[in-house]
Amino acid sequence: MSTTIEEINGTNCKTYLLVSGTEAALVDPVRDRYDTYRQLLATRGLTLRMVLETHMHADHLMLNRAAKEGLGVPVVMHRESPSPLVDRHVQDGDVVTLGDARIEVIHTPGHTPDSVCFRVEGDVLTGDTLLIGGSGRCDFPGGDSGAQFDAVSGRLFALPDDTVVWPAHDYKGNTSSTIGREKQTNARFVGKTREAYIALMASLGLPFPEKVQQSLQVNQSGFETCDVSFPQVSDVAALDRVTAPDVAARLRAASPPLLLDVREPEEFVGELGHIEGSLLVPLDALEHRLPKLAGYVDQDVVVVCRAGARSASAGAILRRAGFRRVFNLEGGMLAWVGAKLPIQR
Ligand SMILES: [Fe+2]
Repeated sequence: MSTTIEEINGTNCKTYLLVSGTEAALVDPVRDRYDTYRQLLATRGLTLRMVLETHMHADHLMLNRAAKEGLGVPVVMHRESPSPLVDRHVQDGDVVTLGDARIEVIHTPGHTPDSVCFRVEGDVLTGDTLLIGGSGRCDFPGGDSGAQFDAVSGRLFALPDDTVVWPAHDYKGNTSSTIGREKQTNARFVGKTREAYIALMASLGLPFPEKVQQSLQVNQSGFETCDVSFPQVSDVAALDRVTAPDVAARLRAASPPLLLDVREPEEFVGELGHIEGSLLVPLDALEHRLPKLAGYVDQDVVVVCRAGARSASAGAILRRAGFRRVFNLEGGMLAWVGAKLPIQR
């Protein structure tokens, strides 16, 4: 049985319907088209099995808790995703099954730390990693143009040339391309060294899109109801950020802050280790653990993750729950280790 891929938004911002037999997955659904998706699935007699997100989006509202519960299916994202609504965290090489189809996860960080591409038979959904004749910007928090170059040239361009490319965005009316065509014609990559690519991406000077901060705050907190509009979320104030040396200094003070590490348990004891005295509460368990943290509502809490994105989500959850003094460790454990501060494993 073959798998079909169809773009169903008809706009620059693309959502794909993946179908195998009567089973379906939505890739990068947009919140304001939730009703359309439900109707489409019902009309075609399809059973939705999952929502796949190629990365944490900054340009549109992703499904929130209410929409997710309405669809009643798990949300699949990379393990470094800062979204608190993920049910299944995947990593490079994982395979997700839909009907008879095998969906292979390729971790392609760069646009965001949690960017992945989904390879399904002879097709690859490339998110904002590889666009038709372009690539996703790398200037948002956590972006890394060098990593993106490695991911595209080393991983995606290693796929067979006839693999069909389906990007998450296109601004020129294109629908799909192939790996072979992108290898030959994509000006971002043709004849470019890694250094040249990094320089090119740094020189783009793209305007910071409107609403990016609001979209990220809503997508990362996951709390809003289905009919949210942008002005209502302005109460999610930006978190205060602290640098790694500043946190180290505060830990030596008379009343040190609570360090709340929201990574996965393997990361806590992994390569980057953790800061001595940290309390481990993985992001997706945070809401359930809030009652146990109640004693800290008026104290300083520093939230920590790998690069600072998941901790921003955790901070938003704590703020919503009434914690008054929440700080985000800027750059996460990467910055802590980069500053040569001590770790434990
Ligand atoms: Fe994006």
